[in-house]
Amino acid sequence: MKILVVGSGGREHALVWKLAQSPLAEQIYCAPGNAGIAELAECVNIPADAVDTLLEFAQAEDIGLTVVGPEAPLAAGIVDKFTAAGLKIFGPSQQAAMLEGSKALAKEIMEKYHIPTAKYAAFEDKEAALAYLAEHPAPIVVKADGLAAGKGVVVAMTQAEAVEAVEAMLSGNVFGQAGARVVIEEYLEGEEVSVLAFSDGQTVLPMVSAQDHKRVFDDDQGPNTGGMGAYSPAPIYTPELAEQVLHQVLQPAVDGMRQEGRTYKGVLYAGLMLTAQGVKVLEFNARFGDPETQAVLMRLKSDLVEIMLAVVEERLQECTLDWADEAAVCVVLASGGYPASYAKGLPIAGLEQAAQQANTVVFHAGTKFVGQQVMTDGGRVLGVTACAPTIQQAIYKAYTAVDLISWPDCFCRRDIGAKALKRIAQK
Ligand code: AMP
Ligand code: GLY
Repeated sequence: MKILVVGSGGREHALVWKLAQSPLAEQIYCAPGNAGIAELAECVNIPADAVDTLLEFAQAEDIGLTVVGPEAPLAAGIVDKFTAAGLKIFGPSQQAAMLEGSKALAKEIMEKYHIPTAKYAAFEDKEAALAYLAEHPAPIVVKADGLAAGKGVVVAMTQAEAVEAVEAMLSGNVFGQAGARVVIEEYLEGEEVSVLAFSDGQTVLPMVSAQDHKRVFDDDQGPNTGGMGAYSPAPIYTPELAEQVLHQVLQPAVDGMRQEGRTYKGVLYAGLMLTAQGVKVLEFNARFGDPETQAVLMRLKSDLVEIMLAVVEERLQECTLDWADEAAVCVVLASGGYPASYAKGLPIAGLEQAAQQANTVVFHAGTKFVGQQVMTDGGRVLGVTACAPTIQQAIYKAYTAVDLISWPDCFCRRDIGAKALKRIAQK
């Protein structure tokens, strides 16, 4: 079968890499892809959100399965359009993807179906929001309702920051429509864990846990980024917790969405905070996480094409997921200056040496070919991912490969996985 993957980041490289291992995958296309993806798939020059052009391409090429990476095409209704045209596509419908696309909707669903989450209120009116802030002092969290490319959350440690965030969002100057409504929620303290699960609308199959590293510098310092690294499993996420999250979070979310007429098919990503009062949901995403996917898929032994077809065909109850009993670590190599402005078009050295290491895959995020040379083409450039029997070994292996790769001003966090080591040492 021919497979089309939509997107161009590290997550999509990991998806293409895993899908390509399936005997069911005859040929893989990726729109638009990147330099690393080009080694495994034919890259097609169509932007990820050009839904109509993607549909024309899929029809012309007789694509048997389309897999959507990022949220924008989901929110634009790519799954509805492909499905209406009789094509198989992995991902939630537009109505279901609203679970990520509207934080207010996500909070309503959580409240209605008793899914543990931070206390909150939603506002469109600035005065009402400011009045609420006056009664709920900082620390407090202000979130733009809509999709804001991961930048719509302000964790305000002071009242002034909270007021500034509300004013900026509700005056429509930042995030436009996405900020026309805000969710203000209780500040939660704890350790974060990401849990991704497959769902066909009924059955839920959770994947192994992972932990992202959202801040740009070591020890969780500096501004938030798209994610500077990930590891799997998260030792803090015990089998008991996993069981609890399946029954108190994932299954109720999928059942609730079905009851709301928003049947949820695809990957459901739960961003969890493990607080002293128990597990609470920070957010749902309607897609695979980046860079969690790079670490998680390195451990998946099952055939991903088979699982995705079972999701699309609503027979996920037939499937089980097999995992390597190993740890995986993904270290993101980024361009100097990221997440603010950075240079592009710098030649990357050392990729071949790094790729020669056993059980190591260098997933590309922001790269492109110029002639035969791989150049930087984004803020997050590579996700160097390694698997090993222990997390300590996986960390060592990933950084050994990282140290073979360079370009002017590249940088990475040096503490990816350190929290896992700390947690294990405490046990
Ligand atoms: P979100 O996009 O909702 O996951 O938020 C981005 C990041 O903001 C999360 O990964 C957390 O680090 C932080 N965050 C979100 N909501 C809260 C909260 N209620 N309390 C504390 N931190 C939060
Ligand atoms: N790693 C966070 C996300 O994919 O949203």
